[in-house]
Amino acid sequence: MQNRITQLFNIRYPIVQAGMIWCSGWRLASAVSNAGGLGLIGAGSMYPDVLREHIRKCKAATAAPYGVNLPLLYPNIEEHIHTIVEEQVPVVFTSAGNPATWTAKLKEKGIKVVHVIANTRFAIKSVEAGVDAIVAEGFEAGGHNGREETTTMCLIPLIREAVTIPLIAAGGIGGGKAMLAAFALGAEGVQIGSRFVASDESSAHENFKKVVISSREGDTQLSLKQLTPVRLVKNRFYQEIAAAEARGAGADELKQILGRARAKKGMFEGDLDEGELEIGQVASSIRTIMPAGEIVKEIWNEFKEEKMRICSIQADFN
Ligand SMILES: Cc1cc2nc3c(=O)[nH]c(=O)nc-3n(C[C@H](O)[C@H](O)[C@H](O)COP(=O)(O)O)c2cc1C
Repeated sequence: MQNRITQLFNIRYPIVQAGMIWCSGWRLASAVSNAGGLGLIGAGSMYPDVLREHIRKCKAATAAPYGVNLPLLYPNIEEHIHTIVEEQVPVVFTSAGNPATWTAKLKEKGIKVVHVIANTRFAIKSVEAGVDAIVAEGFEAGGHNGREETTTMCLIPLIREAVTIPLIAAGGIGGGKAMLAAFALGAEGVQIGSRFVASDESSAHENFKKVVISSREGDTQLSLKQLTPVRLVKNRFYQEIAAAEARGAGADELKQILGRARAKKGMFEGDLDEGELEIGQVASSIRTIMPAGEIVKEIWNEFKEEKMRICSIQADFN
């Protein structure tokens, strides 16, 4: 299949494996890229030297295009940018910040830039900043999220109407049927996070992967809206935050409860009670941990089969 997303990144399938702190290192990114999707290294949880090591290992493990996800609130951002440019990373997905800050500098170096947004205002800002494409991420998504709580179903048509550049949908997409739905709404590619947490190559702790595949409806919640909103599993850590919010705790108290390294503790070290476990609503339909390349194939095959099934229904109408 060829469309604006496959052409932009020079990949076989318009399937992007999301950058995810503590879960998406070189092993996952290279496995997805080798399978014909676009794998992203999640730089948000890496020190500069660690990022360089992951980029080098990724380049050694795949000849296919790959990218780096760079949350713009990262404190050592300039060092990361320097590493990315030096290592000639072909694609960067920026998120959680102002797209105007780094887009021009990265593009000057021949790097394709995509920005993640959750509302129309930031979609327009991204176009003005000169990005090559946009990821529109809905309320269902795992990890940090927009305050407006706009679902993917509502967000994608809004963004499609607002901008003409290539559009990637994210949030709640775990299989080919949801991918097809996103295409029907105007997306030309999908970014998938939660489903790839439950892959062999993800660096998530086994305890966390098991939580993902045993999740049920209602097990996740968008939390910490006073700080940076994040969708996570409703474990003991979440309950502590929810109780503090219910008694009217302010941002300072919440920051104190959050402390440092909660996400690492939960997702990387496997502390299911005290750690932060970021995951999307779609976890409730993920049942198995699989090789990442198999996930790409399964999603793509389901997308094609479902498209044919829908086409045959339309034929019945004639
Ligand atoms: C464990 C986890 C960590 C994440 N970390 C990041 C991150 O570092 N940077 C980012 O831009 N998005 C992050 N996200 C959001 C994903 O990039 C992606 O947009 C989202 O997972 C898509 O929704 P889905 O989880 O329903 O597939 C994270 C998501 C998860 C599940």
